[in-house]
Amino acid sequence: MSRIALIGSGFVGSSYAYALLNQGLVDELVIIDQNQKKAEGDAMDLNHGMPFGSPMKIWAGTYADCKEADLVVITAGANQKPGETRLDLLNKNIKIFKEIVNNVMENQFDGIFLVATNPVDILAYATWRFSGLSAQRVIGSGTILDTARFRYLIGDKFGIDPRNVHAYIIGEHGDSELPVWSQADIGGRSILRLVEEEPELSRKDLDDIFIQVRDAAYHIIERKGATYYAIAMGLLRLTRAVLRNENSILTVSGLLKGEYGLEDIYIGVPAVVNKYGIREVIEIDLNDEEKSSLTQSYNKLKQAMDPFF
Ligand code: LAC
Repeated sequence: MSRIALIGSGFVGSSYAYALLNQGLVDELVIIDQNQKKAEGDAMDLNHGMPFGSPMKIWAGTYADCKEADLVVITAGANQKPGETRLDLLNKNIKIFKEIVNNVMENQFDGIFLVATNPVDILAYATWRFSGLSAQRVIGSGTILDTARFRYLIGDKFGIDPRNVHAYIIGEHGDSELPVWSQADIGGRSILRLVEEEPELSRKDLDDIFIQVRDAAYHIIERKGATYYAIAMGLLRLTRAVLRNENSILTVSGLLKGEYGLEDIYIGVPAVVNKYGIREVIEIDLNDEEKSSLTQSYNKLKQAMDPFF
């Protein structure tokens, strides 16, 4: 029996729970939230949809239920308010994470953590350090959503199914993230080459796409107060790669131990994800500009996290 313990039943957590019910990915879902009534209400509301979805056991529980969990998914914490950056949330959310991770580990959790709360790279690092688990078993959602936004906008520009666009956003899940245009292709054709050959397209079109990706959350938060559907689907994709042992390559936040010349940081990179967590980080070829941008992103995260570790 597969079990997921969801910690945090706010916008992202409840959207993820709803997606899980519709996808029939797991046998059991326990919802843990400091607001017990919210957790109970979400469990009741989801259970009533069971006849339309896939059979699974859903309940509002406690940290004791983490003992038998395969995955603990953390979405709890403060989220960005209009004008706030993700890093602005660090001071508040790292305190919350210390308590959450201690509560989970006190119940002998021996599975995999999926971290979505922002600033996700630093909170994934914090989860690794606080839990004492091997780094491969702590996965941050990283730039999985940014890469999805990137592929959607490129597909929209070129009139192609985004599932046939191969392009990565790497680095901080935040303002210092970067597009890997040098390795981006549509159906095996380099996007940079396509732009060179297409008189109606220019490098500025590509730059505009990246800016829309990087700033997407701000524009959505300004309009509806929070983002949650796409990140919930990204968490679902990650969940599937783990529970079905898919060995999928996804741009998650994983610990670097020298890859890209960087170490002792969690940051968005392509990685192989399976039932053991992060099987390996993939070092894709980067041009000099991309290498420099990744190092700048690393330095920005390091500067923000150093006071806490
Ligand atoms: C966003 C949140 C998940 O980028 O950070 O929408």
